Amino acid sequence: MYKDEILKLKKEKNAIILAHFYQNDEIQEVADFVGDSLALSKMAASTTADIIVFCGVYFMAETAKILSPTKKVLLPKKNATCQMAMMVDYDELLQYKTNNPDTIIITYVNTRANIKALSDVIVTSSNAEKIVKNYKDKKMMYVPDKNLGTYLKHKLGYNIDVWPGYCYIHENLKVSDVLTMKEKHPNALTLIHPEAPLDVLLQADFVGSTKQILDYATDSKKIEFIIGTDKGIIHALKKQNPDKKFYLLNDGLSCKNMKMINLEDLYISLRDELYEVSVPEEIREKAVIALDKMMELS
Ligand code: 13P
Ligand code: SF4
Repeated sequence: MYKDEILKLKKEKNAIILAHFYQNDEIQEVADFVGDSLALSKMAASTTADIIVFCGVYFMAETAKILSPTKKVLLPKKNATCQMAMMVDYDELLQYKTNNPDTIIITYVNTRANIKALSDVIVTSSNAEKIVKNYKDKKMMYVPDKNLGTYLKHKLGYNIDVWPGYCYIHENLKVSDVLTMKEKHPNALTLIHPEAPLDVLLQADFVGSTKQILDYATDSKKIEFIIGTDKGIIHALKKQNPDKKFYLLNDGLSCKNMKMINLEDLYISLRDELYEVSVPEEIREKAVIALDKMMELS
């Protein structure tokens, strides 16, 4: 019943429903577009809809608003935040910038608008490596994911300072999880998100963003995969690959904030136009420069 109402309201209001791969299956099924952080940002920037309903976490809806300021952007659950995005403090980053005026601030999209406003360029897990290569000879600070920053540093051998933030579900992955799962499923390939610690990533057959993991499994001739990212991605993996098998790397791979929105919340959000996301213009105009730089380089 909610599904029909949602589809009806969406049409009446010229709204688009965007959902991240970590959302509940029922949300992914009703969305107009399901994607990773980069694809969702691009979609938000280019849509002709009047309303964007963002099924994800706050920084994603906020990024959509920065890129599409004339649209109404709704987040169906107002307390759906990303824990990693809260791990960087504005004053501390400002202090760092003041002390290191020549350092390029490379900021993960999983941050609040005021942090983006202090940054030179934004990256996502699917374009971070490509973008960082543009600053090869510069001193860089990667904010706030220490794991993705450490992985880039290791892979590229560049001079990168790393902020001490992390994603709690990926941070909990252990080398022993990989060894146990590989023993249980010896024919499986191990695909892991770069928000995991470096020692775990070094055990992987492939490291990539949610969309890159999906593409890799889809293109592979193998039929079994151990997945080191949030369980929400299993829905798209199975949908695209009904004959393949997917095993989660451990039992804790479920971001609780990404699972807050259900069909009823989405229906109410569309019906009552809740919860509207706003970004002060003086912050937005600085943050959009760093996001535009990402779009230019990715
Ligand atoms: P991607 O979908 O861009 O890989 O990001 C994962 C994530 O942590 C979203 O919160
Ligand atoms: Fe944030 Fe991790 Fe949840 Fe993504 S999975 S929203 S990075 S806490």
